[in-house]
Amino acid sequence: MIGKANGIRIGITGLGVNVPERVVTNDDLAKLVETSDEWIVERTGIHERRFASDDEALTDIALPAARDALAQSGADPASVDLVLCATVTPDMMFPTSSALLADELEMPNAAAYDLLAGCTGFVYAIAQAYGLLASGLSRRALVVGGDVLSKILDKHDRSTLVLFGDGAGAVIMEPVDHGGFLGFELGADGGGGESLWLPGSGSRKFDDPESYVKMNGREVFKFATRVLVSSAQKLLDEVGMTVDDVDVYVPHQANIRIIDHAARKLGFPPEKVVINVQRYGNTSSGSIPLALADAAADGRLKPGAKVLMTGMGAGLTWGSGLIEWTEEMAA
Ligand code: ACO
Repeated sequence: MIGKANGIRIGITGLGVNVPERVVTNDDLAKLVETSDEWIVERTGIHERRFASDDEALTDIALPAARDALAQSGADPASVDLVLCATVTPDMMFPTSSALLADELEMPNAAAYDLLAGCTGFVYAIAQAYGLLASGLSRRALVVGGDVLSKILDKHDRSTLVLFGDGAGAVIMEPVDHGGFLGFELGADGGGGESLWLPGSGSRKFDDPESYVKMNGREVFKFATRVLVSSAQKLLDEVGMTVDDVDVYVPHQANIRIIDHAARKLGFPPEKVVINVQRYGNTSSGSIPLALADAAADGRLKPGAKVLMTGMGAGLTWGSGLIEWTEEMAA
């Protein structure tokens, strides 16, 4: 799916993020599996990540992020009529995490549902919220992206355990006077699904004990380096822009080598690329909002800045969104 904005300005007016308190270093993981800080840093760029405590679930991590996004936008919770939560690790399948969040945040007028698109979930969710807002069906949306992947990692599998971390982010989306989303490109290839999967997680193999992430790292690496480049390029072509028009590049934070490859191929200089994989690892649906928050903190999200986000992950899925940052958010 690809398309450019239809003239109705929909922007982000609030952004919040949150990660669990517990920091897990590479040396901590080297006590669980045969690995080393040197291997992990060299192959992935990750130094540490956050893991939730035993009693912490997705909504516990997402709630402070959502509250901060709401506070920054200045919106009345009752005015939010859509809550979308992108995650592969909801508190449980139902009630949905979005319904639980809407209840906690006192949003009685909101439709609420979860969205499953692996690590691309946040980009899919903002595209979907854009569609509902631009059509006029929704007037103000809370979009949450977050995961607690530590709960579904095989603590004996070094090839996956070292890559992931927990975290969440949230944005408020609504009509704005300036800037706003310019377009989206989204795609999926279920044929590659078994490169990154959770076999025992649904109706296919419900009683199967395989409830941990399984991954063919090399296949995912090849896929990721390909789609990060092609998705960004297709979207820029669609909206009639080039890499030079983009001020901030926010790629999914999976592996420093994947990010470096995509940035080099696309032609982004290092100062335009947001990287925080060294602190958080791959937080799946939390990855892009956490990176946006870093770009906001270091002053790169100025009004008028063109920000390109590209996610990719399980499904296999990928997606890009391009936004002109709004004054409403900067205020
Ligand atoms: N510590 C030490 N050695 C390890 C570890 C580890 N943690 N993990 C694997 N190895 C070993 C392998 O067993 C292999 O040993 P062998 O040569 O004896 O067989 C060796 O290291 C090299 O393995 P490779 O797979 O070739 O290593 P590579 O350089 O490709 O790095 C990695 C592996 C980091 C997994 C890489 O392939 C990668 O990043 N892939 C993409 C993963 C990804 O981004 N997944 C998330 C997608 S998003 C989502 O939706 C969740």
